[in-house]
Amino acid sequence: MSRLVVKGGRSLQGEVRMSGAKNATLPMLAATLLTAGECAVIGSPRLRDTAIMEAILTALGARVRIERDAEGRRVLMVHAGALATHQVPDRLVGEMRSSIFVMGPLLGRLGRVRISYPGGCAIGPRPIDLHLKGLRALGAVIHERFGYIEAEAARLRGTEIHLDFPSVGATENLMMAAVLADGVTVLRNAAKEPEIVDLQNFLNKLGARVRGAGTGDIRVDGVRSLGGAEHAMIPDRIEAGTFLAAVGAAGGEIKIQNVIPEHLDAVVAKFREAGMEFGRLHDALWARARRPLRATDFKTLPYPGFPTDMQPQAMVVMCVAQGVSVITETIFPSRFTHVAELRRMGADIRLEGKTAVVRGVGSLSGAAVQAADLRSGASLVLAALAAEGTTVVDGVHHIDRGYENFELKLAALGADVSRQE
Ligand code: UD1
Repeated sequence: MSRLVVKGGRSLQGEVRMSGAKNATLPMLAATLLTAGECAVIGSPRLRDTAIMEAILTALGARVRIERDAEGRRVLMVHAGALATHQVPDRLVGEMRSSIFVMGPLLGRLGRVRISYPGGCAIGPRPIDLHLKGLRALGAVIHERFGYIEAEAARLRGTEIHLDFPSVGATENLMMAAVLADGVTVLRNAAKEPEIVDLQNFLNKLGARVRGAGTGDIRVDGVRSLGGAEHAMIPDRIEAGTFLAAVGAAGGEIKIQNVIPEHLDAVVAKFREAGMEFGRLHDALWARARRPLRATDFKTLPYPGFPTDMQPQAMVVMCVAQGVSVITETIFPSRFTHVAELRRMGADIRLEGKTAVVRGVGSLSGAAVQAADLRSGASLVLAALAAEGTTVVDGVHHIDRGYENFELKLAALGADVSRQE
């Protein structure tokens, strides 16, 4: 068990480099199960979640090894030449919801999959009905019993699927399942996140025929088999957004390298409204915040709207801004585990259903707080940077799920953060 000890009150200065996107890596690693060819996933971050996905691939019979390329980037080499089983180990499924991503690829490649039902998580109920409905439409016969999902299809058949909601995970799972299906699959009301575009690019390098990712209509022309490929993944826009929020909360001036600035348009627009200044270079973003910032309302929405994965961190910025902001969470309506902890640090937040009303308090004070999930954990660290005195953040394993070297990157910007085991 680790904790982070943060002495607050220092502004941030300097340069920091972003890692590859967690949410692009996870489906991409699952997609390597679709092919007997060797895949090189370049820039895959070293995170707890990616380690779990690596363990799942290994348990299914793939060979996974880690290399460095000439530029020093971490490269995951995955070779799923022959798969040993269609059963995904319960222990690993229990550790990470995203293990559900292997359903589509295993159905496509082996014609069957058995996986335990991924439970709820701290950010609220996360059903997988849209994944299952889509797979059934593709011809899979699915039984749900005794906490397991068993799906079978000698060969999936392309069809038109209209998603009731643009779910990121369902869009990705169905895209992967459709790659080896007979005929054409069209996904309507698909999610438009940049990670879906990156998955399309990777699948197409393997020999798939996928078009339309990034729009609401994705078309997959099924192919018989796939080969190997190498692919450098997009940088993590949520990690970058988190560093922007860190500057917004603590003040200062930083340059963030290895970003695609357009992926952060909604976040930058909000922070600009709050009074931050930005400059963009082709793969870098420069940001400055002079406290206090202005309170600003925002609402989470599917991409290109404001990301739910940035809601807790942006809330921290509003906690120390001037005025009242109204924050509406429309994607995961109970994603507020950070609120009680922020209140311990002196924040003034009132929760009404899926809305948080935040009255800026100028400054927070250090306290002992508990991370309950990934992004709320990160938000507590940001609050600690902005607070007077020392904060101890427990439950750091949640933060390690999705941030590579978080405290080292913050320390390089001048923050006083250290890890205690
Ligand atoms: C992905 C991201 C996560 C992000 C979320 C929303 C990954 C690995 N994770 O999660 O970081 O917070 O997108 O941007 O990429 N829903 C259903 N039925 C389903 C699937 C989803 O009702 O079968 C609902 C969910 O409960 C939620 C909404 O749809 O209210 C969005 O979920 P979804 O887009 O699927 O999120 P994930 O793919 O789980």
